[in-house]
Amino acid sequence: MSHDVTATPVGQRAARVDPPGDRPMRLVVLVSGAGTNLQALLDAGSDPSHGARVVAVGADRNGIQGLERARSQGIPTFVRRVGDSVDRRTWDLELSADIATHEPDLVVSAGFLKLLGPAVLARFPHRVVNTHPALLPSFPGLHGPADALAHGVKVSGATLFVVDAGVDTGQIVAQRAVDVRDDDDVASLHERIKVSEREMLVDAVGRMARGGWSITDRKVTIGTDRKVTIGTDRQVAIGTDRKVAIGTGRKVTSA
Ligand code: GRF
Repeated sequence: MSHDVTATPVGQRAARVDPPGDRPMRLVVLVSGAGTNLQALLDAGSDPSHGARVVAVGADRNGIQGLERARSQGIPTFVRRVGDSVDRRTWDLELSADIATHEPDLVVSAGFLKLLGPAVLARFPHRVVNTHPALLPSFPGLHGPADALAHGVKVSGATLFVVDAGVDTGQIVAQRAVDVRDDDDVASLHERIKVSEREMLVDAVGRMARGGWSITDRKVTIGTDRKVTIGTDRQVAIGTDRKVAIGTGRKVTSA
């Protein structure tokens, strides 16, 4: 199978990515740890009306729960460790090839503890998103919850953004706010953020999959949901005006 993984430029500083339409959006998810965000995407994808399904999971290390979550559901996995590559540039190229093998429409970095390099970003333009446990542009980097707490903020949260060459600097796709409590420590705040982060991720990725998205300067707009009917492999209907039906089958409908 092959499909176009580029984005359509619609202006000097604008791009649009259309939804696949006739099938669920293919996600490759990158993880480094527990993989609870991955699990949320796996769970959401079991409902065809979500519009996106995880087709592979990649990691930068072995022995993590995120990989086990994928394997237990029969999802292909790959591990690309920086230390196994000649240098960081080669790792980036190798990782981009690993990801491309699975022909993703969208790459989701979900707790992946490595900066993605130019080879990955060039291969999937406007199609790599990352979830971060703080309200960007505040508190980028590896210690978002700790930095927010140390700063004494009263509200923190989670951000989904399109990955660019910087550290957590890309265009913001979605955010969720989480109140900071007086008795919070880093662990309690991060755990509460992660609850909202998973909801945000599932909601935003689903809307992106169903409606596509466009990016103009700093602004990301997720397309309006089209009515999608994804049935069993025997019946597929797209939108409201076109319908393809092969044989008979169970029909699952959602708006
Ligand atoms: C998430 O909060 C993510 O934003 C951060 O690390 C956490 C990973 O959680 N970078 P999990 O592995 O998805 O459970």
